[in-house]
Amino acid sequence: MKAIIYTQYGPPEVLQFKEVAKPALMDDEVLIKVHAASVNAADWHLLRGEPFLVRLVVGGLLKPKYQILGAAVAGQVEAVGKNVKQFQPGDEVYGDLSGCGWGGLAEYVCACENALVLKPANVTFEEAATIPVAAVTALQALRDKGHIQPGQKVLINGASGGVGTFAVQIAKALGAEVTAVCSTRNVDMVRSLGADHVIDYTQEDFTQNGQQYDLILAANGYHSISAYKRALRPGGMYIMSGGSMAQMYQAMLLGPLMSMTGNKKMGNLMAKPNQRDLIFMKELLEAGKVVPVIEKRYSLSEVPEAVRYVEEGHARGKVVITVE
Ligand SMILES: NC(=O)c1ccc[n+]([C@@H]2O[C@H](COP(=O)([O-])OP(=O)(O)OC[C@H]3O[C@@H](n4cnc5c(N)ncnc54)[C@H](OP(=O)(O)O)[C@@H]3O)[C@@H](O)[C@H]2O)c1
Repeated sequence: MKAIIYTQYGPPEVLQFKEVAKPALMDDEVLIKVHAASVNAADWHLLRGEPFLVRLVVGGLLKPKYQILGAAVAGQVEAVGKNVKQFQPGDEVYGDLSGCGWGGLAEYVCACENALVLKPANVTFEEAATIPVAAVTALQALRDKGHIQPGQKVLINGASGGVGTFAVQIAKALGAEVTAVCSTRNVDMVRSLGADHVIDYTQEDFTQNGQQYDLILAANGYHSISAYKRALRPGGMYIMSGGSMAQMYQAMLLGPLMSMTGNKKMGNLMAKPNQRDLIFMKELLEAGKVVPVIEKRYSLSEVPEAVRYVEEGHARGKVVITVE
């Protein structure tokens, strides 16, 4: 089969489009013919082995443990191992392979069955492939960490990216009044996703305008953690899921300390693959409450270009690899 492989950490140039052996199916695995995969920040972090922590937690210390990247995939089940109960050949599925070996940037991949769910009939393979990492991160941040409630005032910083475009729609589906923060070129797109208010960060700093929110999700960008705290209502909660390194370190190191005093909580999220959440998203997709935003599509051989584009940090919604 054709696949994008890498054998050393580095920039997108180390990725090679090659003919490799089709993966051998184990008893408890599902063999998927990949139709589409989406590119996530985790792919380029693992590609570069940066920050170094990813080598300790996921990749290998000196060279990559998984030679084929790609966690978020959608495709058709080609074969199932003898212990597999949930799927059969022909099923259309999507899932997150980050907990079971990666490998989605290829024509075929083997996955554990709990990483997968059936694809909703009303979305394409490309749309389904956008869900597993980005939408599930937004869901876990808002619902599980943020305990979002109907009627709450929720602000999403980084609303135009992969996580942010889902966060806006999920927060609306869960009944919140949503303020989305993005740059000028994305204002109309974010409003079309249902945001009640849009703040253009090139024109206005939401941490300085006196407005306060019950829940703030920092999906991207940077503000100091004390500025985020100032923009929270009493009893409010801040969740950081991404953004600049400074934003991440402040939330992880200072957040727990700042949460000890006063009544505002400053937390962070490390999303975990979860079949239940993929089913939750399937229901939102089927109900038309969430519609994936796909900015660009690339072929498998163009993965280096796609990763380079995502790494620049200005993707609008998701970037998808279409596997012929
Ligand atoms: N915690 C987790 O488990 C988890 C899971 C997935 C992702 N992440 C992290 O979450 C972050 C976002 O991921 P993503 O997939 O959404 O990224 P992405 O799609 O690459 O984000 C790009 C978007 O961010 C916007 N943006 C850039 N700078 C901004 C700023 N200063 N303020 C507001 N918006 C800004 C860009 O719009 P403009 O160019 O127009 O500004 C663009 O639309 C990354 O840091 C990623 O590593 C974490």
